Amino acid sequence: MPIFKKNKFLADRSCLPNHVGIIMDGNGRWAKKRGLPRTAGHAAGVKVFKNIVFYAKDMGLKNLTVYAFSTENWKRPKKEVDKIMQLLDQMIDEALDDFMNQKVRVRFLGDRDKINESLLKKMDLVMDLTKQFNNTTLYIALNYGGRQEIVSAVRKIADNLSKGELRIQDITPQSFGKYLYYEDIDSVDLIIRPSGEQRISNFLLWQSAYAELWFSDVLWPDFKPEHLEKAIYDYQHRNRRFGGI
Ligand code: IPE
Ligand code: IPE
Ligand code: MG
Repeated sequence: MPIFKKNKFLADRSCLPNHVGIIMDGNGRWAKKRGLPRTAGHAAGVKVFKNIVFYAKDMGLKNLTVYAFSTENWKRPKKEVDKIMQLLDQMIDEALDDFMNQKVRVRFLGDRDKINESLLKKMDLVMDLTKQFNNTTLYIALNYGGRQEIVSAVRKIADNLSKGELRIQDITPQSFGKYLYYEDIDSVDLIIRPSGEQRISNFLLWQSAYAELWFSDVLWPDFKPEHLEKAIYDYQHRNRRFGGI
């Protein structure tokens, strides 16, 4: 039975999660099932990414972070990595006008090292051209690792301490966030992971302390707006206690 039947699982627009994270997983298996190279799965995945981003924006979602490439994904064959980078480059070319017309602020999240110059230039361009929008922010996690983000924050803190610009007692769970890649990124409320894997894989470790998790066997290239609706609908029917009662 299609999960979208009669709008049964339509998410309530009046109480959307503030920040949704999506681990876009399953591209390789999707391609393999069709006898295609893994890179065809990534190409299909990019199309779904664009569709879901603008659907989420139309829903009224404020913050969406998509996991595009992890710090561990460099372990893959160079040919596959190169293709993923090329697809991201092409995605920016193709979606730039839409990001601007639909007023989506785009921010890349991750380490800039190892990303090639021409892609960095395009990333900077799209970030610059969309930085004034404040309805929906899309974070694209590229060369991102939660541990690396935390370590980079610790380094900034250590540097400030050694210069005498910071006191040890001023390091708190609240102030720590200021040293992350974006000091104003909000905690993530809901993490969606398709493809049947049920793990975090180094995604938003600091920000996900109290995130609700939603898993599905659907492979990312088969992910539909209905799945996003269902995930948010399920989220809206959970009881978040944050350690209270
Ligand atoms: C996710 O799909 C995309 C990236 C990690 C870049 P995968 O490529 O991990 O697909 P599977 O998990 O092998 O099916
Ligand atoms: C997580 O997927 C990273 C992205 C989706 C970008 P992986 O496929 O790399 O994760 P593991 O290896 O299954 O944990
Ligand atoms: Mg995978």
